[in-house]
Amino acid sequence: MTSYNLLLLPGDGIGPEIMAEAAKVLAALSDLGLAHFETEEDLVGGAAIDARGNPLSDETIALAKAADATLFGAVGGPKWDGKGPFHLRPEIGILGLRKALGLYANLRPAKCYGPLATASSLHAELVSGLDILVVRELTGGVYFGQPKEIVTLQDGQRRAVDTQVYTTSEVERIGRVAFDLARKRKNLVHSADKNNVMRTGTLWRETITDLHAAEFADVTLEHILADNLGMQLVRKPGQFDVLVMDNLFGDLLSDVAAMLTGSLGMLPSASLGDADPVTGSRPSLYEPIHGSAPDIAGQGFANPLAMIGSLAMSLRYSLDEPDLADRVEAAIESVLEQGLRTPDIAAPGQNAVSTAEMGTAVAEALRAGATSEAVA
Ligand code: NAD
Ligand code: IPM
Ligand code: MN
Repeated sequence: MTSYNLLLLPGDGIGPEIMAEAAKVLAALSDLGLAHFETEEDLVGGAAIDARGNPLSDETIALAKAADATLFGAVGGPKWDGKGPFHLRPEIGILGLRKALGLYANLRPAKCYGPLATASSLHAELVSGLDILVVRELTGGVYFGQPKEIVTLQDGQRRAVDTQVYTTSEVERIGRVAFDLARKRKNLVHSADKNNVMRTGTLWRETITDLHAAEFADVTLEHILADNLGMQLVRKPGQFDVLVMDNLFGDLLSDVAAMLTGSLGMLPSASLGDADPVTGSRPSLYEPIHGSAPDIAGQGFANPLAMIGSLAMSLRYSLDEPDLADRVEAAIESVLEQGLRTPDIAAPGQNAVSTAEMGTAVAEALRAGATSEAVA
């Protein structure tokens, strides 16, 4: 049985609540003898600020680099908002990890599980069977461009600057990830930008066009303006397969895509870097796309399925255990088929289950799946 070393970073708000449920799923996989997981846990974000005065310590980065995969909950919350210096806010816990590990490719699959077609805010027929993949550039753009500052002018006004910056190599490498993945899906890529307004948009479009012509002419490529994409996602999402875009557009539009699946609490993600040419190991981090949900934290009814789905992605993309990933995803589907719903995906008037009940049910469905296989 293969043994894996995982780093768990629960973070803040609902982060620890949903991570506890992912841990139940890991325990079930271990108990079934399918794989063995050694887990280490560390503080990140607001919890690390409170304990150490620093949202992301060098030790945490080193642990993440050494792990076979890192699972991340969520960081941030009103307790820390606007309190400390900007460069030590909780969100540095995630932004700093992405940068330090070189995680430039963020895969955000928006898949509408059959039983949840009626949970979306769109008509069921628009989202039924939906399976689209947002490929978000994650270490460039306006998130990291310099200068990034607020200065006070002579007349006493304040002036804030954020810098949107991309190089051809940054666009090429994320484009390559999108085209490669499209080849394993429906061979269709939509690349979103604002080339009608932004110089980075021009560079983005030209670079993707050149890359497509040089290496991926077999894949269908469409360019789309990012504002139109936002509209088209809620008008007719089924027209899309793989969507590639910059860091900020990817952040905004993946939250939109999440609602097509029923809830922000359903959408997992994988953040990947390039494999080390010597060791072959590929830096990675797996997290739900949602945040720490301060409005429901501590109440025990956050949806843990995006976190558990992120664990499934780690089995597929980092641990080379696609069969185990399939089993975890099948267990998620099975609890949804059984009618279990946390409040975010429950129908009006339906009795909802707690975070812990949902996690336990997924772990039990995994065990039941393995048992029925053994009997068959
Ligand atoms: P959020 O994603 O935390 O919450 C938005 C809404 O979705 C809330 O109503 C919340 O209750 C709901 N929601 C989110 N996840 C849910 C789940 N699993 N189950 C049920 N409902 C869920 O976004 P926000 O409120 O804008 O941000 C709160 C904090 O989280 C901020 O500090 C923000 O910076 C941080 N944040 C962190 C991450 C991360 O750690 N990767 C991601 C996004 C936001
Ligand atoms: C996300 C979050 C983060 C982002 C924040 C917490 C820095 O919204 O992962 O989607 O903007 O990338
Ligand atoms: Mn976001």
